[in-house]
Amino acid sequence: MRITIFDSNEELDSRAAALIASTVAERPAAVLGLATGSTPVGIYKALIRQASQTKLSFAGVTTYNLDEYVGLPPEHDQSYAYYMRQQLFDHIDIPLEQTHLPSGMAADLAAECARYDRMLASQPIDLQLLGVGHNGHIGFNEPAEALVGGTHVTDLEPATIAANARFFEREELVPRQAITMGVASILKARQILLVARGADKAQIVKQALTGPISTACPASLLQTHAHVTVMLDKEAGKELMSDDSALHLVYS
Ligand code: GLP
Repeated sequence: MRITIFDSNEELDSRAAALIASTVAERPAAVLGLATGSTPVGIYKALIRQASQTKLSFAGVTTYNLDEYVGLPPEHDQSYAYYMRQQLFDHIDIPLEQTHLPSGMAADLAAECARYDRMLASQPIDLQLLGVGHNGHIGFNEPAEALVGGTHVTDLEPATIAANARFFEREELVPRQAITMGVASILKARQILLVARGADKAQIVKQALTGPISTACPASLLQTHAHVTVMLDKEAGKELMSDDSALHLVYS
């Protein structure tokens, strides 16, 4: 696990975007696993900028998003499908039919989860971008006694609903359920890029990267993966910097 702590968010965004861009440059038919939330916003902006400067084409790229709210149609401005078009897909040359998110509107959600898993099995992810929730969730895999491997419907924790309420007019409007890729699907990615920013993530970042590997902190499972790159701003990394463990820390 290579952990880099950046002085500025601009530098973090540009280095994270450069990793995604180089994955596509090396493999024009790359399969990218993408994330939503506030963390990737600056990374997508930097990626759009870099792609336009270097004329990088996404025409052969396929994407799979981690998750989607149950009950929000793709036109809803808080759906992750809408977010992805706004933040990334509308600004690069990727054909929309090569971009995939689970549908939270499917009449048969179990069938939708199985369909998503079949697609993921046929197109292994080269690089999975990940944020982390305050409770250690990845995608919407909430802390639990047991985690689910494949794509599934999950109840959101009250803390997650409260954290995501900032994007909605009122907390009551935040969906109570989501479809999420499971932890096994996430861990199947060839490479994982975990990004976190802000002092409010410092504790969970430390727990995830240096604490026990436990389903109580789903992000801690990343410790079992052979190729994880972690990019943090100095606020999110501050608990690690005071730690004298054998982590491979790079200060940038
Ligand atoms: C969300 C998403 C996650 C995301 C996390 C952190 O609810 N389902 O994929 O990584 O919570 O969000 P943020 O980046 O806004 O802190």
